[in-house]
Amino acid sequence: MRSSRRGAVDPFIVMDVMEAARQAEEAGRRIIHMEVGQPSTPAPAAARAALAQAMERDSLGYTVALGLPALRARIAKLYAQWYGIDLDPARVVVTPGSSGGFILAFTALFDAGERVALGAPGYPSYRQILKALDLVPVEVQTSAENRLQPTLEDLAGIDYEGLMVASPANPTGTMLDKPALSALIGAAQARGAAFLSDEIYHGIEYDKRAVTALEISDDVVVINSFSKFFSMTGWRVGWLVVPEGMVRQVERLAQNLFICPPHAAQIAALAALDAQDELKGNMAVYARNRALMMEGLPKAGFDRIAPPDGAFYVYADVSHLTDDSRAFARQILDQAGVAVTPGLDFDPVRGGGTLRFSYARATADIEEGLERLKAFMAARG
Ligand SMILES: Cc1ncc(COP(=O)(O)O)c(C=O)c1O
Repeated sequence: MRSSRRGAVDPFIVMDVMEAARQAEEAGRRIIHMEVGQPSTPAPAAARAALAQAMERDSLGYTVALGLPALRARIAKLYAQWYGIDLDPARVVVTPGSSGGFILAFTALFDAGERVALGAPGYPSYRQILKALDLVPVEVQTSAENRLQPTLEDLAGIDYEGLMVASPANPTGTMLDKPALSALIGAAQARGAAFLSDEIYHGIEYDKRAVTALEISDDVVVINSFSKFFSMTGWRVGWLVVPEGMVRQVERLAQNLFICPPHAAQIAALAALDAQDELKGNMAVYARNRALMMEGLPKAGFDRIAPPDGAFYVYADVSHLTDDSRAFARQILDQAGVAVTPGLDFDPVRGGGTLRFSYARATADIEEGLERLKAFMAARG
């Protein structure tokens, strides 16, 4: 059968690591998972209970394409609760995960061949989704002194029709503060480019609250999801906030591309928005894990790290230890039984010298993982 050039996207290397870890587990080894970017906790109890009830009384057929009106209204209320913003629910679009949101937003905003600037390192699927849609990812190398977030200087001389940022970011966990985010939004708007803000890690913040792009401008596209803070990765439900004038275009695309986001997941998501106590409990675990990582990784020999502002990742510079992060990650898996993600996933240029450690799992696993990493590095000499 023939195959398209735009469909020839790169594999998501972390998935390969997960498969290697699975094989090791099948062979009887206990593996500590520091590769996966997802909570080990289930959806909040209230979300599961709400769905159990709905399954008894409702046929759970299609919903309207933009999502259940009650869910759109409740998401709008979250913006009042988290940021003090008055958001019109009509601008909220419920999507099949933020991944579905990217497809809708990119398709609504850009024509084939247009360029979208992204900071590197960054979430790998941005690049691949753009390529699959015949768009051109323009990766901008960020610098350590800016905590690997893009700046105006990094963008100087670069031509683009869209600019996308993530704060807190994957893989670094670093955030853009209000002046830095404002400067980037201003630069994009000044050249008539669309500005997209991936806010999927909002809520998972440590010392400071994350800033939403909507605090700065209404003429932006915000992408968010129930996957991370709300602990609902497999439910496949997220949302977009789009400018008023874009809603109808996104609605037409959503009707045709997806019909609607999963109905069952929307019911659960609506209840999850009111499960703040349980979600705060998850946050306490992440905060404890983060402290353990900041103390334990340097002790093990991974001392080129910066404290993450949010999310549940530490991105370590290991360029003094290797220039092949993929082989190094494999060695750590084979010898220490700890699965970690090679930086090449996030940055094809410099990622040979970096690793991402996730601390989204239970604290006991983090403690054991750090012990194993210490022993591995000590044996390496
Ligand atoms: C920065 C970022 N954006 C988007 C996603 C996709 O999330 P989902 O489709 O589950 O909402 C991820 C997943 O890890 C991510 O790290």
